[in-house]
Amino acid sequence: MASSDLTTSSSVLQVPEPAEIRQWASARGILILAHSYQEGFLQECAHFVGDSLELARAAETEQAEAICFCGVHFMAETAKLLNPTARVFVPDLDAGCSLADSCRAEDLVRYQDHLEGKLGRRPTTVAYINCSAAVKALCDVICTSGNARQVVDSIPAGEPILFVPDKHLGGWINETSGRDMVLWNGACQVHELFSVDTLRVLQDEHPGSITMSHPECPKAVRDASDHVVGTAAMLRLAESHHGATFLVGTEGNLIYRLHKAAPGNRYIPAPGASCACNLCPFMQLNTPEKLWQVLHQGGNEIEVAAELFEPAQRALKRMLAIR
Ligand code: 13P
Ligand code: SF4
Repeated sequence: MASSDLTTSSSVLQVPEPAEIRQWASARGILILAHSYQEGFLQECAHFVGDSLELARAAETEQAEAICFCGVHFMAETAKLLNPTARVFVPDLDAGCSLADSCRAEDLVRYQDHLEGKLGRRPTTVAYINCSAAVKALCDVICTSGNARQVVDSIPAGEPILFVPDKHLGGWINETSGRDMVLWNGACQVHELFSVDTLRVLQDEHPGSITMSHPECPKAVRDASDHVVGTAAMLRLAESHHGATFLVGTEGNLIYRLHKAAPGNRYIPAPGASCACNLCPFMQLNTPEKLWQVLHQGGNEIEVAAELFEPAQRALKRMLAIR
């Protein structure tokens, strides 16, 4: 991959090749983590690439003075909550998440109060990890797409559950577990756009192909898929095949990882209804230039308010204890 020039206020820095960036960071006690939705160059720079669950576990267990998180804000906040002594920083502080933004703490607490009045008891609140630390602090337990069923299955039957913020992931858990969780009305702006009509066209064009879609996709897309799985499970599925054609219903950059892990297959990205917009605009804010700049100049540090730390951390640790 080509290196490029980075203009800073005082100088021009050449962005080196990924291996050099990684070594540069290692020598200074900086661990680079990257989500699989980051562009290939950033994945190559990272000491560890993974899904939300794997990255949370890595942030908790890896020794590092600092973590540079190539992902979105809630992921870096999670790393800070799980490794409070490490300084955590990001290439671009504006890399947010539409799903996390759909659930504000003040609205959630109002809704929990409303449900308590209606049900006669406060529901157990399960939060998808794609939410702010303030929302995590109001929840009993966190889940990711990789462990959502296990987390919900760990809650005694009959206990009322409020699931936030993703209605599609929550709907999928309800369908597969027989639960009747109350769902927050949030969605990921990337996965929401996948269309079953364009997926069907692709399936007709590629008979024998295997469709895998992320549980953040709408029900019609999930129902038309052979496998509904998070990104880590997509990788495992690809690795267990050779010579297969996969239709991939998730963020487009995962295909870089799929190709690298299982190059013997063909991967075709599922497009949206009227566009090829399967790249997350928030993840895309992180670039090689911004990574190199923040490694050199610091800044963009993630802080979590002191009063949120303990309750948000407790909800995360309850998830990580479920194996
Ligand atoms: P996973 O990392 O759990 O597959 O989730 C995908 C996602 O949307 C992250 O923002
Ligand atoms: Fe958020 Fe969707 Fe982007 Fe993931 S892909 S960070 S859920 S907007």
